[in-house]
Amino acid sequence: MDIRSQLGIYQESVDSFLKQCIDDQSIDPQLQDAMLYSLFNGGKRVRPALVYIVNRMLGGSLEQADSAAAAIECIHSYSLVHDDLPAMDDDDLRRGKPTCHIAYDEPTAILVGDALQCLAFELISNDSGLNADTRIRLIQMLAKASGHQGMVVGQAFDLRNVGKPLSLEQLEAMHQHKTGALLKCAVLIGAVVSEQVSDQQLESLEQYADAIGLAFQVQDDILDIEGDSSVIGKPQGSDLEKEKPTYPALLGLEGAKLKLQQLHETAISALEPFGKSADELKALADFIVQRDH
Ligand code: IPE
Ligand code: IPE
Ligand code: MG
Ligand code: MG
Ligand code: MG
Repeated sequence: MDIRSQLGIYQESVDSFLKQCIDDQSIDPQLQDAMLYSLFNGGKRVRPALVYIVNRMLGGSLEQADSAAAAIECIHSYSLVHDDLPAMDDDDLRRGKPTCHIAYDEPTAILVGDALQCLAFELISNDSGLNADTRIRLIQMLAKASGHQGMVVGQAFDLRNVGKPLSLEQLEAMHQHKTGALLKCAVLIGAVVSEQVSDQQLESLEQYADAIGLAFQVQDDILDIEGDSSVIGKPQGSDLEKEKPTYPALLGLEGAKLKLQQLHETAISALEPFGKSADELKALADFIVQRDH
């Protein structure tokens, strides 16, 4: 099966788990509506796919990874809702639809993000299929990757450096935090959920995750220039217009593409110890650097 069809299977799994969790909880219908709008609007579900793939590679089942996969997508969706707000990137299109604050309003978008973030931790802590130590470990990993040592500080670097020239080192640190941290976390929580990963395997997975995490944002920056708004589902040229610090801005388009290729090679060689069992993870690395949205 090709990776796109396989992604469809993971998408179905995480979507039905998330729908059930949100439907089961009696919450305010207006807030619920805006949460569903922000979660179910055509995201690629790359982070949940990574959780499922790694877990399955290490002998786990789809079901075992549902709460971790759903949790990381909640954090990701919250980060996008806030990222689009006027105080941040001020974008009005996301996944081909009006952003949350345009479809609803700014207070709703802020609260949707807050609620999705809390939901992520609730989903893991409520998962009675995982032992208590595993749940705590997952919560710690997700909190670290999302908060002031992860995605949030990356977003802070990003916003603080609008219009300013960054060194390559600073740019890399920014990308590693704002986007790499959550993607890396997806790989590692997939391994932890399986409850059967060795330290050596974890080390190889970390190398893979570091490379694809950074590659993901480099391709995102490239798509902001080369992509078609109707395909990427976001306003094309937004980074340029807002003088965002990006790889193409610093290295040029060709330099960014070369960096992307190098990161792809690093990711693939990190998987060598897993042999054929890592074929799906390799295909996902290919997808990340070749994707058109
Ligand atoms: C977009 O992430 C934001 C970045 C971190 C680069 P995705 O490209 O994974 O967005 P969706 O979830 O598929 O819409
Ligand atoms: C956002 O990076 C990363 C997040 C933590 C949400 P971008 O600002 O480049 O993401 P897009 O292009 O709006 O999806
Ligand atoms: Mg941004
Ligand atoms: Mg943005
Ligand atoms: Mg972008």
